[in-house]
Amino acid sequence: MYEKLNLIKSICANCKKCELSKSRTNVVFSGGIPNSKLMLIGEAPGYWEDMKGEPFVGKAGQLLDKIFACVGLSRQKDVYICNTIKCRPPENRNPLPEEKDACREYLDAQIEILKPKIILICGNVALNTMLPNEHGITKARGKWFDGPFNSKMMPIFHPSYLLRNDSREKGSPKWLMWQDIKEIKRVYDLIE
Ligand code: URA
Ligand code: SF4
Repeated sequence: MYEKLNLIKSICANCKKCELSKSRTNVVFSGGIPNSKLMLIGEAPGYWEDMKGEPFVGKAGQLLDKIFACVGLSRQKDVYICNTIKCRPPENRNPLPEEKDACREYLDAQIEILKPKIILICGNVALNTMLPNEHGITKARGKWFDGPFNSKMMPIFHPSYLLRNDSREKGSPKWLMWQDIKEIKRVYDLIE
């Protein structure tokens, strides 16, 4: 598993399949821990991710770590983290369809090698990639979908969205995220 991932990672590190290769500092292949239980697919590297070559290391990433910690999960031991595309789009614009298409093979390889039981689809960009027939994260979040290799996929809000919505009231995005992470942990604990 590690050898296969490392091979794809080394190919990806030199990838010039789309225009984003010209503006990136680092390719951001993955973070967390390779495992066959839990994978999270985010959007794209931002400023700090591009600088450090690690996913979710900025403010959104810190919130993500806190959310996992609420249910006793951590990226050091439980979660494999990757993004829909591996290079930062200039000014954090949304990835273009041709960039997503070009990068898709790396994401597919990550899924195929790890065969995670649970895949978290974090935000609208990942949702459009993994579940193109769903219409928006607000409707799709919190539901289980059948995913590749017999996985269960759950769309969840992106932590950047939670950072822009501070309320914790019942029905607010943060409150909904709390429901979702508890459900995710419940199913996670059922996997041996
Ligand atoms: N947002 C993402 O979707 N991915 C990252 O790696 C960082 C921020
Ligand atoms: Fe290659 Fe993906 Fe980076 Fe484009 S975004 S250069 S396809 S690794």
